[in-house]
This record gives sequence, structure tokens and C-alpha cells, in this order.
Amino acid sequence: MIVAAGKGERAGGDVPKQYRLIGGKTVLAHAVDAMRRHPAIDQIQVVIGPGQETAYREAIGDRDILPPVIGGATRRESVQRGLEAIGSARHVLVHDAARPFLPAAVIDRLLDALAHDPGVVPVLPVADTLAQAGNGLGAVVPRDGLVRVQTPQAFSFDAILAAHRAWPADKEATDDAQIARAAGLSVAMVAGDAALDKITFAGDVMIAEAQLAARMIVRTGLGFDVHAFADDEELWLGGIQIPHARGLAGHSDADVALHAITDALLGAIGDGDIGSHFPPSDPKWRGADSARFVDHARALIAQAGGIIDHVDLTIICEAPKIGPHRDAIRARVATLLKLPERRISIKATTTERLGFTGRGEGIAAQAIATVRVPEDQ
Ligand code: CTP
Ligand code: MG
Repeated sequence: MIVAAGKGERAGGDVPKQYRLIGGKTVLAHAVDAMRRHPAIDQIQVVIGPGQETAYREAIGDRDILPPVIGGATRRESVQRGLEAIGSARHVLVHDAARPFLPAAVIDRLLDALAHDPGVVPVLPVADTLAQAGNGLGAVVPRDGLVRVQTPQAFSFDAILAAHRAWPADKEATDDAQIARAAGLSVAMVAGDAALDKITFAGDVMIAEAQLAARMIVRTGLGFDVHAFADDEELWLGGIQIPHARGLAGHSDADVALHAITDALLGAIGDGDIGSHFPPSDPKWRGADSARFVDHARALIAQAGGIIDHVDLTIICEAPKIGPHRDAIRARVATLLKLPERRISIKATTTERLGFTGRGEGIAAQAIATVRVPEDQ
């Protein structure tokens, strides 16, 4: 369960921190994907704030998780509402959406320890000096024996639900381990991880960006496609229709340029090719708008936490002349990829009347995509 019903007041910004983008993906989606990647987790329940339904839908897209539950005025209430909605389970990990980076190793440690205790929390040592703050600096608080407690916190489901139900409604708690202990449950500790630090203040979003950037590697993907000219066909190139005596033949709209771009994008994330995602044998794709193929590849990259840095396309034909349409194609491809135009390059060449393109039998296109993806995905 991921609680995401807060307002993120201390972090500020236009939207609550769980809906801010880190590397092109919301903080909440990072947390959800970390859970989805772990083989031991069967279901994911997110708790959202009232009025956050649209932001939630945009953040989660078509990820296959339980429908969201509306949380309460405090974190404790949000957790309880989430637990009540889940109803029954063997174990539950209660996690803050505001902690986007969740290493699988932490989940492993929590689950191992759950075999012996009804509750387990990830902790880290305190490194800074701790002191009372009031009217000037007060007494130092000895930090021996103190730990910083993170989430996810793992519990036997029935035990933590009963503990929440027994907790007095007029008292607050900043985490669930407090509630578990008040109900007499033993709570074990395992090593946490610095990557799990919570986004709380405005500067923390930038720290999270930097953390992610350090894990990103650049990959390139190459795409190539050819379609033959045919009579009685429209000519679609780079997502726009170009007036020409002949069009291109193919199963979809035969937009050879968008097909090359789609394959370049899929190549960069090593996820097959256009034919494996949209089999030509499937009648569903007859006459299909190739913009859908590009959008699918774009969404796969976004889902993997990737960023498209640049796409360079070369269209190879004697006719039509591409120059007059270059700006329109660039604008259309930029729109499809949700990128600024400066990250799209459109080029064209003839083959000096040599070969099939030289004889005007068809059009070829090649594209190269530069993408950054998290190294551990
Ligand atoms: N949370 C929640 N319901 C609330 C309050 C908080 O689900 N009523 C969630 C937050 O969305 C966050 C986690 O609990 O994922 C930890 O809380 P916190 O860091 O305090 O987040 P916010 O309450 O949103 O931030 P702030 O206190 O600065 O307003
Ligand atoms: Mg709060």
C-alpha cells in the first residue's frame, strides 16, 4: 500500500510532491513501479487525496493495480482507510509515495524478517548531531541508540489493521510502527537505504533528480523501414499527409518515417520491434495511423523511467521533395513524442537515381534515437 493523500505543503510547488516529475515520471509512479517490479508483491493499493483523481490517473496510466482509495486528513487516517479497503491479505508493506526510490533489496530484507516478527521497519543510523531547538540552541540529544525510521514498513495484515482500529482517534502518529507497538506488537529492524529518503522540502526534489540522473545511462536505437509506392494510396510521411501522385503501400498507413522512428525507440530500450508489438498479421492494424505506434513506443520508454533526448530521421527518396514539408514533419514528430522541436531532426536525401529509391519504386527511412534509462531496469 502506498499512501499518497498528502498535500505536500512543506515541499511547495504547483502540485503535491507525489505528482511532481522526476526524470519525466511522477514521484508516485516511481514508487508504484518499484513495488510492481518485485516478484513477491501481488497487489498494489494507492491511497490518494480527495480531488487528486485526475492527477492519479495521469500518473498511473494503464498500470494494472487496484483502484485508488480516498485517504483522510492525516497520514494515519489515510493508512487506515487503505487497510480497510484492502480488507484481507497475509502481509502488507505500508509505503510513502514521497519515497520514490525503493531498492528491491530492502523489500527482500523486510520480507525475510517478517517470518519472525509481526512488524519490520527499515532504519538508518543518525549521522548528524541532534539538539533541542528553542530560543537558541538547546541541549544536545545523545544519538547513541537512535535510528532514522523509513518506509516501507512491513506487517502481518490482520495485526496492523487491528492496531489501527485500536489507536485513539484523537492522537496522531507519524508512522505505523508506533501504532503497531502501542498494540503490543514486536517490531524488528532491518537496514534501510539512503535512496529511500523522503521528499519533504523543496530542495529534496532536486536531490531526487540528481539521484536518478546518476543511475541513468545513455542508449541509442536504430530504425530502418521501406515501403513501395502504389497507385490509389495516400502518402503519409512523418505523421503528415503529403500531396503526391502516388502513396505508399503497406498494412497500416505505411508511414515509413514513423515506422523507422518507432523501431529506433524500441531498439533503445531493447523491447523488440514494431512487428512484435503490432503484428502485420493482425487485421486490427490495417490502415492504422502510425502515430499510435510512435505513441506506444514513447509510453514504453516513459514507463521504464526513460527520457528521450533526441531523434534524428533521414527520409530517402527522389520524390516528393521533403524540404518544403520538413518543418511540419518536425513539429508533428515533436508533438507525438511530447518533446520540444529542438530535440527532433528531420533530414532527407536522394540516392542519386541509384537503387530502388533512385528508380522511384519506394521510400526508405532510417532513424536513430538517443534515450536515457535507469541502469537498474
Ligand atoms: N499522506 C497521506 N495522507 C495524509 C497526509 C500524508 O497519505 N493526510 C502521505 C503523503 O502523501 C506522503 C506520506 O504520507 O506520501 C508522508 O507524509 P508527508 O511527507 O508528511 O507528506 P505530506 O503530508 O503530503 O507533506 P506535508 O506534511 O509537507 O504537507
Ligand atoms: Mg504531512
